[in-house]
Amino acid sequence: MGVAEPIVAFGGQTEWEKVPTLSSHSPSRQARPHEERVGKSTLVHGNCLEWLQCRESNTIHAVVTDPPYGLREYNEVEKAKLRAGKGGVWRIPPTFDGCRRMPLPRFTTLTKKEQLAMRDFFAEWASLLFRVLVPGAHVFVASNPLVSHLVYQPLMDAGFEKRGEIIRLVQTLRGGDRPKNAEEEFHDVTVMPRSAWEPWGLFRKPCEGLVQENLRKWHTGGLRRESEDRPFTDVIACSPTRSPEREIANHPSLKPQAFMRQVVRAALPLAKGIVLDPFMGGGSTIAAAEHHGYESIGIELDRSYFDVALNAIPSLANYVPGKGGEGIQERQKPASACAVNEIVGQQLLF
Ligand SMILES: C[S@@+](CC[C@H](N)C(=O)[O-])C[C@H]1O[C@@H](n2cnc3c(N)ncnc32)[C@H](O)[C@@H]1O
Repeated sequence: MGVAEPIVAFGGQTEWEKVPTLSSHSPSRQARPHEERVGKSTLVHGNCLEWLQCRESNTIHAVVTDPPYGLREYNEVEKAKLRAGKGGVWRIPPTFDGCRRMPLPRFTTLTKKEQLAMRDFFAEWASLLFRVLVPGAHVFVASNPLVSHLVYQPLMDAGFEKRGEIIRLVQTLRGGDRPKNAEEEFHDVTVMPRSAWEPWGLFRKPCEGLVQENLRKWHTGGLRRESEDRPFTDVIACSPTRSPEREIANHPSLKPQAFMRQVVRAALPLAKGIVLDPFMGGGSTIAAAEHHGYESIGIELDRSYFDVALNAIPSLANYVPGKGGEGIQERQKPASACAVNEIVGQQLLF
């Protein structure tokens, strides 16, 4: 996938009439994408690569996003199977203890070709993103320990500085199994560690001059402190998304507000500017931005997920975490609890 030349917008923020062909993603001439306003947010139904290509340079102040790592689970064929309850790359979990669980992506291994395709996708994305961000803008990108390099390296190649990782402590269902069909024989063996954390890569577009100069000019460069006494800190314990939030926003990879609000809040150090989520899904980033009174833009390719986000964002923004048991350590909960169901799409893919 090649990166098309950026275009300059006139007066407004995007120009949709003169869009050059973007490799395999777009026709040479596009209709303006469908947009809706919710509070201080703009929701766009469209392809983020096309949107980024049209967006004016230096107009976004932070990115908080959770990309589709599988590249397969969100294609039309696989989504149709998911919605029909047929599985495909999605695994429909068995019903037991009276609880119906969310579909999970299957534990599949990416081939070399798929890894290269993913790296190319993120290379194009990172390069388009770099231009639209103001100097000093931070990018928080959700990942998992097995594929994080496939998004981190392209971000650095595009010019971003790696500034660390946010570790979300969360009990997932990835790993921890005995060798398949030889469980008895190798009773004391686990093939992979049971994963209990989720990495969020933290990147920054280089500042113009010193951080304080960049803060004055662009309102970016640092992270908003948690409080007078406590800086933003890179380990956050947060359990999977519980059913009350899922009932508000029925998206298979919905992230919990208890976590998203902490990250989104930190992303604008002076509480000024625009937060972008190019892979909006059910709208958890945008809802967190609304909660804090931040301006934001969310982009979603799939029309039905776009509609989910549109309807869910006001309620998610007002949601009171704790109602569904967020914050309770997973180890203390029964293994069969219905709530083990964020199960974070891409987390479990690999
Ligand atoms: C992992 S999910 C995001 C979930 C989201 N963080 C939430 O809490 O609901 C990734 C989303 O990106 C969307 N998507 C995939 N490719 C896209 C593209 N090129 N542009 C915009 N959205 C895209 C998928 O339809 C999917 O809803």
